[in-house]
Amino acid sequence: MSPVTMFLVRRARHTTVLLRTQRLNYSNSRRTLCVSHTHLNQRKGLVLGVFEKEEEEASLHLTQAAKGFDQTVSGKLSELLKISGPALKKGKTRIFYGIHEDFPCVAVVGLGKNNAGVCGAENWDTSKENIRQAVSAGCRLLQDLEVNHVEVDGCGDSQSAAEGAVLGLFHYDQLKAKKKTKVTAQLHKSADLVGWEKGVAYAEGQNLARLLMEGPANHITPTVFANTIEEKLAPHAERVTVNKRSEAWIEEQKMGAFLSVSKGSEEPPVFLELHYNGSSDSTQAPLLLVGKGITFDTGGISLKPSASMDAMRADMGGAATVCASIVTAAALKLPINIIGLAPLCENMPSGKATKPGDVVTAKNGKTIQVDNTDAEGRLILADALCYGHTFSPRAIVNVATLTGAMDVALGSAATGVFTNSDWLWEQLHKASVVTGDRVWRMPLFQHYTKQVTESQLADLNNVGKYSRSGGACTAAAFLREFVTAPHWAHLDIAGVMSNQDEVPYLRKGMSGRPTRTLVEFAAGLTQHS
Ligand code: BES
Ligand code: ZN
Ligand code: ZN
Repeated sequence: MSPVTMFLVRRARHTTVLLRTQRLNYSNSRRTLCVSHTHLNQRKGLVLGVFEKEEEEASLHLTQAAKGFDQTVSGKLSELLKISGPALKKGKTRIFYGIHEDFPCVAVVGLGKNNAGVCGAENWDTSKENIRQAVSAGCRLLQDLEVNHVEVDGCGDSQSAAEGAVLGLFHYDQLKAKKKTKVTAQLHKSADLVGWEKGVAYAEGQNLARLLMEGPANHITPTVFANTIEEKLAPHAERVTVNKRSEAWIEEQKMGAFLSVSKGSEEPPVFLELHYNGSSDSTQAPLLLVGKGITFDTGGISLKPSASMDAMRADMGGAATVCASIVTAAALKLPINIIGLAPLCENMPSGKATKPGDVVTAKNGKTIQVDNTDAEGRLILADALCYGHTFSPRAIVNVATLTGAMDVALGSAATGVFTNSDWLWEQLHKASVVTGDRVWRMPLFQHYTKQVTESQLADLNNVGKYSRSGGACTAAAFLREFVTAPHWAHLDIAGVMSNQDEVPYLRKGMSGRPTRTLVEFAAGLTQHS
């Protein structure tokens, strides 16, 4: 048994024990149940799936769990489904009350076609996406009814069901007096507790990134960010070391590009360095993850317009997703070594701030003319990439809310991937098909390199010669000047940073994307030497 499976089995067993205890108490107090069910705080719900009927099928196509439930209520569920309206379409929900003593509210959710599988055109697994969407809709409906515990149909893919439940129920109300009902979810009658627990871990990882990204910049400062990640990693101290590098250390390292951004702010910068040693071979070359950690991006002296500037509290999305994926890898005990780096600071205008036209020197000695202080992400990443090479990583993946141009190019459909490695692209793409949090390959042509290397005063210019044209590509070309490793990928996540309603299983707000893809990618690498 692999260490991951062993861990999941252990967790799954623990869940089963809890379940049994709950059931015992439940049957002992059966007589009082009807009363307690009517009390809002005690309500329990159930989410069950139904597939779209194939043409040749005469009756409803219920999942295994839904069929089982239907039998326990003598066919009442299928009867009600038929008389309550047309066949349930994909992602739609219908709720039935009082048909089962244990579950006062039963939400039935439409799963679309059974065995839809991977769709080549969409670059994702449609079955998994449908399950995430349907389960999240069912769970949210029950949450609105103030149900505080839901049992969830695994729908044939417990991991996707868990992801739908845990991602769907997340709501950022940390700073409000009035909170949404806290809902706990557990798998309903299925053997696949391992898949369920894995899905919970993946989704909790993404929710950690959402929590950090949504948090206001006066709460999530570089120091608070680093402390939060340190706390989250504390239970895994055996395999993890955390270094919160100070400003003095950053100066010693001669990270002039990073310091040129942080110096406009009163808030001290932090260079967060995480080492997760999950491999039994301590000499195994690590995977290096680097995340942009601008806890607020005003643009600096090249000040941004004030409309929507508040969204720039999530400009540490790269750092959040990278760190959250390392927390998740540690929780799952993935047998791999990972190093995470997050340069964290604010980008502020002030009397001490970098001015357009200033020239700064990066850690590798290259000089950079900073023509636009709002193109700060590439500056802090340049130094982090230089430092990262000292660990001789097997692959480098940096993640950053780098350019508005990336949002213009792909919107929120997919993360843009710029890479010098076909192998690395394949690994990332394969992972994203599974998670549904997609990636799309973008070019790294010399064409763009020329536009950042022809600088009037320095070796490089931090903005492309032709202003905003191909802005995501010139930013990637800039980063490439700080990379010598053969397997490097830059993920521009500006377009996927937030969600309106495009991803149906994420509520409106900061998305935490693509944390699950990073975790799945790291898990995939455990198969490679
Ligand atoms: N953090 C922004 C990019 C961004 C924009 C992320 C919108 C998420 C949503 C980045 O630092 C930035 O301001 N980039 C500039 C670069 C330009 C000055 C070359 C941009 O995209 O406008
Ligand atoms: Zn900026
Ligand atoms: Zn930025």
